[in-house]
Amino acid sequence: MTRTRKWIIFWVTFLLVANGACYMAVADHHGYKEKRWYQKISNWDDDDDHDDDHDRQGKKRRYQKRYRNNSKNYKKRYLTPVNNPTYIEECGGCHFTYQPELLPSGSWDKILFGLEDHYGEAIELDPKSKKVIAEYLKANAAEYSSAKRAVKIMRSLGDRTPLRITQIPYIQEKHHEVPPKVLVRDSIGSLSNCSACHTTAEKGIYEDDYVVIPR
Ligand code: HEC
Ligand code: HEC
Repeated sequence: MTRTRKWIIFWVTFLLVANGACYMAVADHHGYKEKRWYQKISNWDDDDDHDDDHDRQGKKRRYQKRYRNNSKNYKKRYLTPVNNPTYIEECGGCHFTYQPELLPSGSWDKILFGLEDHYGEAIELDPKSKKVIAEYLKANAAEYSSAKRAVKIMRSLGDRTPLRITQIPYIQEKHHEVPPKVLVRDSIGSLSNCSACHTTAEKGIYEDDYVVIPR
């Protein structure tokens, strides 16, 4: 082999190796960024509905904003379990104690204002308990929550204040596949009976992984 030929082979090999190394470094860097981006978003929202935001940048920006404005709560995933003894005692006798974050304060106001005809039942409540319950429900209502379900509830309601959680469009959409004849089973009764199907409802966890529809 001539000297020149040796040199050519040397340089070609060198360039190929150097090129490969550069390519790998760049690819690796991208992979790292992708993962970071994914982890960030999944912290905030790994919900299964993609209807409300297709825009990755928008999501990222909202995440960052949320992080800045509300750094104490930015990771809040689930609703806070009910922890008010008066509410549990006075309102938990007939049905599941709904987390205050499931309705805006305007709805809680209306519900507490109309207790003499509460979905066909007359409810008696002494003024002191009523005040405690009203304060608890309103101070922790959906509009003050950073939990992703509460954010979605507020987004779906705008400024409407329905009398039922089961009238919220977001909640109705999530259940439109549950047939009415399933809801009237003795073990369920109605869609209002959240804890019949959501085995972790009391913990404030409504992820579909924990749904078991009783026979
Ligand atoms: C005497 C029984 C009784 C008591 C006590 C009671 N409720 Fe109810 N509540 C009902 C009935 C019945 C319904 C309608 C459930 C249905 O349609 O399946 C209802 C429905 C509700 C709903 C709407 C659920 C939905 O469909 O989204 C809310 C919210 C609610 N109650 C809040 C309260 C609060 C707050 C208190 C305490 C101040 C309370 N309830 C006490 C009987 C009661
Ligand atoms: C008959 C059983 C049943 C009852 C009662 C019920 N749910 Fe559900 N819920 C389901 C099922 C099934 C799904 C999953 C739908 C899907 O696969 O996306 C679901 C989904 C949800 C979701 C969305 C979960 C997710 O991962 O996206 C929320 C939030 C929710 N339910 C809240 C409630 C609340 C609040 C109540 C009571 C007012 C309630 N549900 C009552 C069966 C029920």
